[in-house]
Amino acid sequence: MFGFYLLNIMKYLIIVFCLFGFVLACKPGLLIPVEKDVQRAQERWHDMDLQTLKNAHKLYLLKCGKCHYTYNPTNYSEEAWLKRMPDMKREAKLDSAEFKLLTKYVLTMREASKSSNNER
Ligand code: HEC
Repeated sequence: MFGFYLLNIMKYLIIVFCLFGFVLACKPGLLIPVEKDVQRAQERWHDMDLQTLKNAHKLYLLKCGKCHYTYNPTNYSEEAWLKRMPDMKREAKLDSAEFKLLTKYVLTMREASKSSNNER
């Protein structure tokens, strides 16, 4: 009797974990730079390449997910990002190179999936 009860709890837990895993797996996926993002970035900043954007993505996960979840760049306008980033530079203790890189990263990625969400 008890064993049966436990099995049900296990089943429930497994389902919950799977759903969680699914959500976690999808979220950062939106932010992973691909070649298309590089092209867009290079229209504004000539020093951007895929490796640089990928490094920025890692830095973003590392530095910007400590206090709150990593906000999706597409959720804010360019103006909102430019206003917010100096505060977050302070919060995340970024040096000025990291600040510039992450600013370029969010401005690049905020345009990423607006129209091409389902192509990624
Ligand atoms: C030391 C903690 C801390 C770190 C690290 C941090 N933040 Fe924040 N962040 C906050 C707090 C606290 C708020 C809310 C306070 C406010 O609205 O000013 C916030 C708010 C935000 C918001 C606005 C959310 C909203 O909808 O109002 C964005 C966007 C954001 N952070 C991005 C970032 C980015 C990008 C980084 C990495 C460079 C970062 N944060 C690192 C503490 C942090």
